[in-house]
Amino acid sequence: MIDTGHSESPRRVVLTGGLGFIGTKMVDRLIDSHEIFVVDNLHPQVHQDRRRVDELPERVTFLEGDVADPSNMQAVAAFRPHVVVHLAAETGTGQSLLQSRRHAEVNVTGTATLLDALAGADALPERLVIPSSRAIYGEGVWTLASDENVSAHGLPRDPTRLANGEWLPTGPDGEELGSPLPNNAARSEPRPANVYAATKLAQENVARAWCIGLGVPLSLLRLQNVYGAGQATGNPYTGVLTFMAKQALAGEQINVYEGGGIIRDFVNVADVADALTQAALDRTQDSLTVDIGSGDAKPLEEVARLLSELAGAPEPRLSNDFRAGDVRAAYADIDAAGHALGFSPKVGLRDGLRELLSWVGSEVSK
Ligand SMILES: NC(=O)c1ccc[n+]([C@@H]2O[C@H](COP(=O)([O-])OP(=O)(O)OC[C@H]3O[C@@H](n4cnc5c(N)ncnc54)[C@H](O)[C@@H]3O)[C@@H](O)[C@H]2O)c1
Repeated sequence: MIDTGHSESPRRVVLTGGLGFIGTKMVDRLIDSHEIFVVDNLHPQVHQDRRRVDELPERVTFLEGDVADPSNMQAVAAFRPHVVVHLAAETGTGQSLLQSRRHAEVNVTGTATLLDALAGADALPERLVIPSSRAIYGEGVWTLASDENVSAHGLPRDPTRLANGEWLPTGPDGEELGSPLPNNAARSEPRPANVYAATKLAQENVARAWCIGLGVPLSLLRLQNVYGAGQATGNPYTGVLTFMAKQALAGEQINVYEGGGIIRDFVNVADVADALTQAALDRTQDSLTVDIGSGDAKPLEEVARLLSELAGAPEPRLSNDFRAGDVRAAYADIDAAGHALGFSPKVGLRDGLRELLSWVGSEVSK
């Protein structure tokens, strides 16, 4: 269990995007002992109705609006938060290639608008927490096929090669790569391969520079693929397991892209909300950048098989479909998060998928 600060005097916490998948779980964790202000624009891709507003505990102050609108961020600053957790974001990987302006406006300008409002009102928080993304690493670091003791960053994959079913990235000089190494904030260089990732990296850079300049501790948690109950079931752009769970529950064959060999690290939303809450309540003066995941590298085929088995659906179909902007492999080295935040994921994949299926089932039957 995380210490949710019961023994301390209540602190004021702002959650931008607090009605989202991860944000609502943070509200649950903080509501008993903190004053909470949620700002959220009820993005229509995420919210088909106003249910999440109706479900907010009465004690939460709620403002409906966009983070890129200065007047909304002035209201945030007027709350004089001790901690700001900035979750609101445009999050579509493939979508960001078609809506780069919108992703930049929300993820970069929105962040700058928040920071200007805080600085302008002389309302610097004691800590800023931002959930960043493993997407910033792009293809990440791999061993070379010729020598597993030598590693190199994978080059972005060319869409023409993907169309030919050539899935693996190559090394900087065209070298054949062997196995992917875990994303590690201390060792892996950010090399975004889609616009969402680029805007999340820009968000990190803007926030870091602001925090250094004004002496505000910053916690950047780079999240792997978060899954679990509460993710929007109607959003076709994010949440691969939610999408697959819908397919399996409909008795369909899950279509697994790239021949099933994509590697991901699926971390349950409960573990992620614990990590972010721990970061929000951190009273040290240290800034940190850590990776959050289960720490397990899972081929998508294996996860799809497990989902199908649990749902009683037919075996998945491995296809040569692919999605522009996706990377071949990503998983986290979670040691640093363990040291800094006591992070240790609790929810196993089988249990997490069971819970996901049950939640998706109840949502689609509504
Ligand atoms: N879910 C994941 O797998 C994952 C992985 C890596 C990083 N993240 C990051 O975690 C954060 C939260 O993601 P989530 O999974 O809860 O997403 P989500 O889409 O469920 O929640 C985001 C919330 O922000 C709100 N929002 C979107 N644009 C807004 C705007 N312009 N102004 C105000 N509110 C806005 C939405 O209405 C929604 O309630 C994001 O910053 C995302 O980049 C998520």
